[in-house]
Formats: sequence, C-alpha cells, structure tokens
Amino acid sequence: MDETVRYAVGLDVGTENVRAIVATQSKDGKLSVVGYNEAPNMGMRKGILANLAGPADAIDKMLGEVERMSGYEIHSATVSINGAQLLTTKTEGMIAVGTMEHEINEEDLYRVEDVAVTGRVPANREILDVIPFGYSIDGQEGVKDPIGMTGARLEMKASVISALQPNCDNLRKALEGAKLEVEGMVPSVVAAARAVLDEKQKENGVAVIDFGAATTGVAVYEEGDLQYVGVVPAGSNNVTNDLAICLEIDTAVAEEIKRRYVTGSFSGEKDIVIKVNREELTFEREKVDEVVRARLEEIFEKVKKELRKAGYEKRLPEGAVLVGGGAKIRDIEVFAKQALEMSIKIGAPRGLGGVASAVEKPEYATAVGLMLMSIEGGEKLNKKFVQKKQKSKGFLGNLLKKFRF
Ligand SMILES: Nc1ncnc2c1ncn2[C@@H]1O[C@H](COP(=O)(O)OP(=O)(O)OP(=O)(O)O)[C@@H](O)[C@H]1O
Ligand SMILES: [Mg+2]
Repeated sequence: MDETVRYAVGLDVGTENVRAIVATQSKDGKLSVVGYNEAPNMGMRKGILANLAGPADAIDKMLGEVERMSGYEIHSATVSINGAQLLTTKTEGMIAVGTMEHEINEEDLYRVEDVAVTGRVPANREILDVIPFGYSIDGQEGVKDPIGMTGARLEMKASVISALQPNCDNLRKALEGAKLEVEGMVPSVVAAARAVLDEKQKENGVAVIDFGAATTGVAVYEEGDLQYVGVVPAGSNNVTNDLAICLEIDTAVAEEIKRRYVTGSFSGEKDIVIKVNREELTFEREKVDEVVRARLEEIFEKVKKELRKAGYEKRLPEGAVLVGGGAKIRDIEVFAKQALEMSIKIGAPRGLGGVASAVEKPEYATAVGLMLMSIEGGEKLNKKFVQKKQKSKGFLGNLLKKFRF
C-alpha cells in the first residue's frame, strides 16, 4: 500500500446542511476519501450565520462521526463561506522593478499584488483571495507567469474576492466553538467549481451554478481563471416553501413532493397522490408545476442577471455546470437550459479513490473542492508563500495552510 504523506479536510457550512470530507494523499499524489459525513445545520440564514451555537454544535457532532470513520483527528479544515455579500472586485497595480536587466522574482509579484490590492476593497471587508489573471511587462500584455522575465515595469490585473468582515469573524468564532482552526475560507461556489470543472472548460469559458437550499452561487471562469463570483439570496428551499404555502401543506410534505414528483421538464402527466398520516392527498399536477415553475423562473432570472453583470451572458462556450442539492430536482437541466439559454450539465466530483462513490454527488461538490484546495494550499505554502508568511499576516494569513504529516 502507498504511504500516506498527508491528510486534508474540507468543511462545507451550508444553510441547511454541513458536510465534511477527509482524504489522504499518498506519496505518488493519489487521493483517497477516508471519511465523510453530512448533518442538518441550524442557525444559518441565506448562507450567513444567524447564531454561533447552532452551527458550532452541528459541525462538532458531524465531525465526531468523520473522525470515527476515518481514524484521523480533525484540528483544522478549509471551510466554505457564502452569502450575497461575497464580492469580486477587478483591480490592477503597477510597480517599477528596476533596470531593464532585472529578472522578475517572487518578491516583485508580492509587491505588485500589494499595490493592486491595498485600498481597493472597502475597509469592512476581508480579502479571501487574490487571483492574478494577467501581467504585463513594460506595456506588453498577456504574460501569465512573469518570473524570470526581464523588464523595468510590471503591471498586474487581478480579481479580489472579499466577504464582509463580521461574516468571516462569526464563521471563525463558530468553528472555534467546534474546536476547529480555519486554514482558509473559500466561497462555496468557487470550491464546488474546483471539484467539478476541468482545465478545458475553464479555459474556454464556463459557469458553475451552486443551487443550494437558501442561496444560488454563480462563478464564471475564462482563460483558466475565475472571473466573477455572485450569490443570489434564494435557493431550492424557496420552491419547497412556495409549495407548502400554495398547497396548504407541511413543509415536510412539500419537500417530498419536490423530491419525488417535481421535474424540470414539467412533463409529469398524472396528478400527485401522497399518503400523509394514512390519508391519501391528491394534488393537481398543473398547480404544482405552476408554483414550481414560477419560483425556478425567478431564481434563474437572477442567475442570468449575475451572468449579465459579469459580462458573460451568452458568452460561455462550455455552458454551465449545476451543483448543490438543488441540482437533484429531476431534469432540472432541461429547465436551466431553456432559462439560461446555454448548455447545462449536472456536476459531481470524479476521480477520487477510497470511498469516493459516496461523495460523487452534486451536493458534495463544495466539500470535495475544499478538501482539494486544502491539499493544494499545503503545496502552495511550500513553493510560494513561505516568504509571505514572514512578511505579513493579513489576508495572506488565510492562504497559509498547515501540513499534517
Ligand atoms: N433528491 C432531491 N431532489 C430535489 N431536491 C433535493 C434533493 N435532495 C436535496 N434537495 C434540495 O437541496 C437543497 C439542499 O441543498 P444543499 O445541501 O446544497 O444546501 P446548503 O449547502 O445547505 O445551502 P446553501 O448552499 O444555500 O447555504 C434543499 O433545498 C433540498 O430540498
Ligand atoms: Mg451550499
């Protein structure tokens, strides 16, 4: 058996569900899922913490089970953050790097990043990540990796992802309550994208839509890089709640109707008959479809608006990949294709070993992506960020991931 060199944990703190994954990495780089679990969450509203105790308790209990399953103690994790306040800001910076003979080094990249970021994001925001998507040297654009090149003037264009400071602080506090150290916070939809997209899709242009319980995240990729993140403050629970109100039934019954009978192609013919407390209830198919369609149209119209805001409406050759529990509505891709006017796939993590089949589902995309980012963060730390650690704490501290041997 291959020797395990490290293990990593991804923790998705969703409005309705918390999910975690532990995976090990062997010497040859292979990943194996060795533990996973999900549990209902309490105390979140539209992706944001409404109280600390509910999520802390849910996470603590859920992780206990993951520890038992995997045999690993969990002290830290890469964690999801969500909510309509997540923001991507485009920014640019320029520095002089010396004489024409100067070879651009890592120190120069940190300096130009500092210039590009400082003062560009409002004070009450925490920077989660800076994604450089192009450098230019002495005015020549299109440089992806300037290290070792020569020039006198270095410019950088980047996307800065930020969240409201109190939201980050509260998430950290809740996790402290669950005795967990936060290695890094990543927007749910960005983590999901890490688990379900391939390089070709990201290069050509693609969107990931995380259709969750109370939020719908949108991330757009092009030329290999993240271009935009937006979060619509509505999700699949809105469909359930509308059914409960319009059909005058419990949310549990509405949820059952949604899971068993609703289809995104709206092709179900027969009326819906369900047994509730030994009583048979019949619901008109037409009425159910009307309620569901109205809400889905509203949510996907907002998703379309996000794509428009990002400048990518009808400009994504690889279409969109749907993830999250909401992607499990039967034939949702049929509806999404018509609503967004682009090709749609349902996304699920692939290519992991161990007990991977249990997490190869749309609702596990975020947790898997976070685990992958935790592993990459460790690798990054060795290569790139050691120097930064000595220099500054701030947002860069977020990027500093711990190795666990
Ligand atoms: N089999 C299914 N069919 C239809 N819908 C489903 C199914 N399973 C789960 N869902 C829906 O998926 C949603 C939960 O998705 P998910 O677990 O991704 O949300 P979350 O991450 O907790 O929330 P958010 O991302 O909005 O914070 C619920 O609205 C639930 O009704
Ligand atoms: Mg989610």
